[in-house]
Amino acid sequence: DWNSANVIDEQVERIRAQVGSGKVIVGLSGGVDSAVAGAIVHKAVGDQLTAIFVDHGLLRADERKQVEEDYVASTGVRLVTVDAREQFLGALAGVTDPETKRKIIGREFIRSFEQAAASLVAESIEGPGEPVKFLVQGTLYPDVVESGGGSGTANIKSHHNVGGLPEDLQFELVEPLRTLFKDEVRAIGRELGLPEVIVARQPFPGPGLGIRIIGEVNEERLEILRAADKIVRTELTAAGLDAEIWQCPVVLLADVRSVGVQGDGRTYGHPIVLRPVSSEDAMTADWTRLPYEVLARISNLISNQVPGVNRVVLDVTSKPPGTIEWE
Ligand code: XMP
Repeated sequence: DWNSANVIDEQVERIRAQVGSGKVIVGLSGGVDSAVAGAIVHKAVGDQLTAIFVDHGLLRADERKQVEEDYVASTGVRLVTVDAREQFLGALAGVTDPETKRKIIGREFIRSFEQAAASLVAESIEGPGEPVKFLVQGTLYPDVVESGGGSGTANIKSHHNVGGLPEDLQFELVEPLRTLFKDEVRAIGRELGLPEVIVARQPFPGPGLGIRIIGEVNEERLEILRAADKIVRTELTAAGLDAEIWQCPVVLLADVRSVGVQGDGRTYGHPIVLRPVSSEDAMTADWTRLPYEVLARISNLISNQVPGVNRVVLDVTSKPPGTIEWE
């Protein structure tokens, strides 16, 4: 029967047989799947693997640090971080349409990843003769089934999955999680010694905070959203609600303003939307009935501590008709 240590041993052997002495890269998203896939491959082939992490500037507070410090410390993997923040924000300037944002972020992501992969080859000490041949993907069993099964909900949003992008790069794929479900992937991650902040992570979209700012994305707005999001995550965790919640997008309505009062002054600030959802697979979802005390606390903290925000609202829409993310 199922045992994470056996699965790891089996995959380690398969990976070694597949890649031989070839060079391998993995794109880390900060998410569970790419992290665990990378860790297994690292266990199998050590320094033949290089991990690439693109910081697109749309990450939440502490996410880069989790990858650069916690992940590297627990796996020993060699990591190259690409700081592409300016490139992404430049490309997103003036853009408000959700699908356009998604396409731009996906395109810039491929570009940064390609550049990083190309410079790895150029920098290789063993000489430029040996290009990277393999790309690790954190594809899970449900992904395999879904893409084999055809259409359905396909074109509602153009999903950008960090693991799934650079198909036209012509790497041979290494997919050590192809037979596994999410909870099995988490068990394997724990067995491999990955920290809980990575293994227990809730889903987070590839386009990041870029699709949680309704309106144009810029650094000032990202800072506001990061601060609000950090408060929400901290409070939900402190209240012991992480297991009950599938995820809780925090959304900044950057083009909406409302009048408020604070101290003895009138304010004219932006609303923050809380979107806590419960779900089995993200295909359908219901809004999570969070305790009023927790909501009250989050609301007070955000409106007192986050400059520019003077109102906190709760999204009480199920999916369908609402999607989980606002864009
Ligand atoms: P929606 O908004 O379509 O989201 O109800 C369903 C689930 O998918 C996540 N999501 C994404 N994940 N790349 C991803 O890797 C994306 O582009 C993307 N867009 C949405 C969302 O957070 C939810 O868990």
